[in-house]
Amino acid sequence: MKIYNKELDFDDGFLSDVKAQCLTWAREVAQTYKETGERTHPHLTFRPRSFHAVDRTPWNEWDKVVDQFGAEKAREWKRRQIKMLREFGEVNRIIIDQYDLPEDMRQYVKEQTYLEFGIPKDESLPVVQIQDGGELLHPHRGHARLASFFCLLEGEGEVTKWYDETTPFEHYPEYYIPDMAKLKVAEEKSLTPNVWTLFNHEIWHSVHRDGDLGVRINFGIDFKTMNVNQAMEYLT
Ligand SMILES: [Fe+2]
Repeated sequence: MKIYNKELDFDDGFLSDVKAQCLTWAREVAQTYKETGERTHPHLTFRPRSFHAVDRTPWNEWDKVVDQFGAEKAREWKRRQIKMLREFGEVNRIIIDQYDLPEDMRQYVKEQTYLEFGIPKDESLPVVQIQDGGELLHPHRGHARLASFFCLLEGEGEVTKWYDETTPFEHYPEYYIPDMAKLKVAEEKSLTPNVWTLFNHEIWHSVHRDGDLGVRINFGIDFKTMNVNQAMEYLT
């Protein structure tokens, strides 16, 4: 059976201290961004992501993508971006940034996840994600993870949609952008704050916000190699 997402009945106390601290820090990041335009923080470390080289390059600078990845891929990615534009229109994009926790807190999360579920410490990588403003996070799949335990800390009732491929098409690991003509919505869900969810990042998904204001903050434990089915084995 295909799992898009699955609510988990974790104990309320599981990492509640870490989640509360991360929520405070993430709000500080959002506040600093509003005041200074910088997304920096003394305790959370911004995680650079290589697909941003494509995803955050405007069309008038597309030569850079051609130079870095070659004309063929650059053309196909732009073709898919144009299909996105036709599907969703000109929208204010949700910018999603990822942050690493301080080392001691990272170790604590790995330790607790091992003690609670037996998940090997080197599988777990905690992350704080901040989705600041914007109305749509376009369909994509995880560039660095297949599955995670995802806990929404604060949001605006955003809806996550997962998609099935109606016809297979090529996936480019450097930049996971789907061909919208070959996707159909398979599952829609508004995640509940403070409820842990097993999140399938391997399947194409998007996030939709009503309006383009607001900050969505979540804490996650990403798995280095496990997919949702492998993660499920630790939960039953
Ligand atoms: Fe995602």
